[in-house]
Amino acid sequence: MKNIYLIGFMGCGKTSSGKKLSKLLNLPFLDTDQMIVEAAGKKIPDIFREDGEAAFRAMETEVFRRLAIESSQAAVISCGGGAALREENVTYMKQGGIVVMLAATPATIYQRVKDHTNRPLLENRMSEEGIRELMEERLPFYDRAADFKIRTDGLKCSQVAKNIAKAIEKEEL
Ligand code: S3P
Repeated sequence: MKNIYLIGFMGCGKTSSGKKLSKLLNLPFLDTDQMIVEAAGKKIPDIFREDGEAAFRAMETEVFRRLAIESSQAAVISCGGGAALREENVTYMKQGGIVVMLAATPATIYQRVKDHTNRPLLENRMSEEGIRELMEERLPFYDRAADFKIRTDGLKCSQVAKNIAKAIEKEEL
């Protein structure tokens, strides 16, 4: 079994569906944001504010390097929303991994993230329009990195997890 990397825009359901998927497939669940927080000893908004986005991105790439090189057991890995924008990260994901894009409309994303304050990149664009703008810039990167795409609008995370599992099964045949 390969690592399963879940990519896509903030709020598309990578973490919630990823947790369900890991239970379904009986694999460990990892979250790159969480791994960065543990390594840095501080929360993501504090890393952005005190060290800057470039430092965050360097830590993120280090996490992907370690996952590609060191992981002995396959896992379901929820990736930060900007991870697939860096080619180096995608190269690490593709080494022994399947890359699954989770997709949702800006309206769905807005509903899911509007009450959260832990995403520095949404601080100044907390509206459907702001989300659409950033999403349009990023979609080509997600599309290029993904082996396949799963829509999540209107679905419970347990259903999304089942859909991912089915698609992986097909992919691996
Ligand atoms: C980011 C997404 C966040 C986190 C950081 C940057 C991005 O992760 O990595 O705030 O660039 O889209 P989630 O997608 O899990 O919210």
